[in-house]
This record gives sequence, C-alpha cells and structure tokens, in this order.
Amino acid sequence: MQVLEKIPRIRLANLPTALKEMPSLSERLGGPKLYIKRDDTTGLGFGGNKARKLEFIMAQAKRREANVIVTGAGFQSNWCTQVAAAARKLGMKVILVKRGPKEGYEPSEYDGNHLLHFILDSDINVVADRQIRDVSKRICEEIRKKGHTPYFIPIGGSTPLGTLGYVNAVSEILSQAEAKKIKVNYIVTATGSVGTQAGLILGTKILHTNIKILGFSVSFTRPVANNQIMNLINSTSELLSVDMFIEPEDIMVQDEYVGEGYGIISKKVVEAIRLVAETEGIFLDPVYTGKAMAGLIDQIKRGRFTKEESVVFIHTGGTATLFPYRRPIKAMIESKEPPWTKPPWYATVLEN
Ligand SMILES: Cc1ncc(COP(=O)(O)O)c(C=O)c1O
Repeated sequence: MQVLEKIPRIRLANLPTALKEMPSLSERLGGPKLYIKRDDTTGLGFGGNKARKLEFIMAQAKRREANVIVTGAGFQSNWCTQVAAAARKLGMKVILVKRGPKEGYEPSEYDGNHLLHFILDSDINVVADRQIRDVSKRICEEIRKKGHTPYFIPIGGSTPLGTLGYVNAVSEILSQAEAKKIKVNYIVTATGSVGTQAGLILGTKILHTNIKILGFSVSFTRPVANNQIMNLINSTSELLSVDMFIEPEDIMVQDEYVGEGYGIISKKVVEAIRLVAETEGIFLDPVYTGKAMAGLIDQIKRGRFTKEESVVFIHTGGTATLFPYRRPIKAMIESKEPPWTKPPWYATVLEN
C-alpha cells in the first residue's frame, strides 16, 4: 500500500493470513455468504490481531534503541502475550502491568495468557483497577535511571502507528477477494481498544472501497467507541499525511452485545463458539471473537444482511483464553449453572 511505504516496519506476522469461506456456517444460518480472515494465525505468540499493529510499533521501538518494552492491560491479556512474544523475539525485555482484582493478585494455577506471559519471562506486576498508566510511568522512570531505554506502548497498541496494521490489512483483504472473485460488502470485527476497527475504516477510505466496517464492541458504549475511533482515524491520517473525510455513518459500532461487561461470558457467547467449532472446525475466544460472533449471528437472524451479501469476519485471535474459561464454558454446554460468569481475575472494564 503506497501510503505505508515510507513508514518503518518490522516483519513479525505471517502475512497474508488466509481468507476462507465458511460454507457450513452460512448454510446453518441461512446466509449471507460468510468468510473468515484468519488473523488468529499471524504466528506471533498464539497469533492474533496485535501482530499486525506491532510490526509498526516495534519498528519505532527499535529505532529508538529501546531495550525494555513496558505495557499493560487486563490480567489475561492477549495483547500482553503478543507484545511479550515480539519483544523477546527482538531481544528486548518486557515488563507487564496487569490489572487484577487486587494488587499482587496471583491465581493458584498459571493458565491461559498468564502462563504464556510467564513462559515469555515477562516481569509481571499486578495492580488494582485503574493504575496501569501511573504504575507504567513510574516503572519507565525507574528503569531509565538504571540506564535502560524503556519504550511504553499503550493498551492494545491502538496508537496511530498500531492502527496502520489494519489500514494495511484492508489492502490484503481486497487483493484476496479480487483473486477469489468475492465482492465484499462487510468486514466484521470485535472492537476493544478500537485500533482494529479504526484501521479498517481508514483503509477502506484510502483505497476508495465502499465496504462497510462493522464493529461489535466488547466493552465501550457506542458513543465512547465512536469518539475514540474518530480521534484515532484523525491522528492516523495525520501520521500518513492523508486528508480523509469520515462521515459519522462510516463508524458502525454495535454495543448491545457487550452483555454484563468486558470479559463477562454468557450462554450466547458459548453457543457462538460452539457453532463455529462444530460447523467450521475453528475455535473462537470467549472475550472478543465469541462475543462478536454472537452479535453477528443475532444481526443475521434479525435480517440485517441479504443472502447474496458477503461478510468477512476477522478472527482476531485470543484462543488462549478458552482454557481459563473452561468451567463456565463446560457448564453452559451441559446446560448447568456456571460456577461463575465474571472471571476470578476480573477488574473493571478496558481503560485507555
Ligand atoms: C482477540 C482480540 N480480538 C479483538 C481485539 C480488539 O482489537 P482492538 O483492541 O484493536 O479493538 C483484541 C484486543 O485486545 C483481542 O485481543
């Protein structure tokens, strides 16, 4: 993509990821034509959308000669896994500031992403609630005093540089769709820290396609997500020196499938995970892609799409969290009362 040519990038992801049809799922739901973009196979850590963002972010960290990467997010964060994997691969240390229900929270078993953070030799700091930014700042100051060069990355990599990963993904999807003679009407994604959706919207604008980008929020309300997406598109356009006019209707966020909150699982999410596994042999995750798929299924049932339309669902990864959610998933499949829906490591919503 021409506008990205001058931006430094380190190759970290296996690209292009496959674009596959989901014929059995489409048939089971009675249309539209459903496709899946396998960004869960980007190959960094357990795969996922963050590998695309990190190609641009880590290139800047390298140019600034950083030797310690500092970032933060939720306790079972997929983001932290991919950052740690990228940092280790590039020979850097990684310090994670994770939100726990209380400071220093340690589960009795290492599981899911927490285990992966540990395997990747991350320095793990668990803080209570909304202290990630302050604690990260303090850590950066401390390690700078010790002679290291820290590089802080905000949650989810939803910065202008990170957003470029999904600007670029649009061009990848368009060439694959052209080769397969698919006329894509919608691209669907789970929306958390909003960089993926913002990048997709900006990419379609730059490439003058009228594909609609539909985001299923996993945490923010629609007004908050819309605002963040608009700000991120503006700052990313500035970085690229492109002048894009975004209409409010270009930003389509569904917030009614968040349910009881970020990371809180429901029967609909488990049903969506099971349906995709049974029909296509693909595993979604309980926090992002399962929730987004539950939303997409509901929108299909409500007749939002015609049978002829083509919808590309981006599998943004996150499958490592299937395992720490094993108990409610199993109970819900067996129609039993789940032991919990709000995870034991739960601590408020996504923050920025
Ligand atoms: C598996 C998965 N899907 C989707 C998202 C959401 O992407 P974004 O934060 O760019 O909105 C995340 C972010 O944490 C994620 O881990």
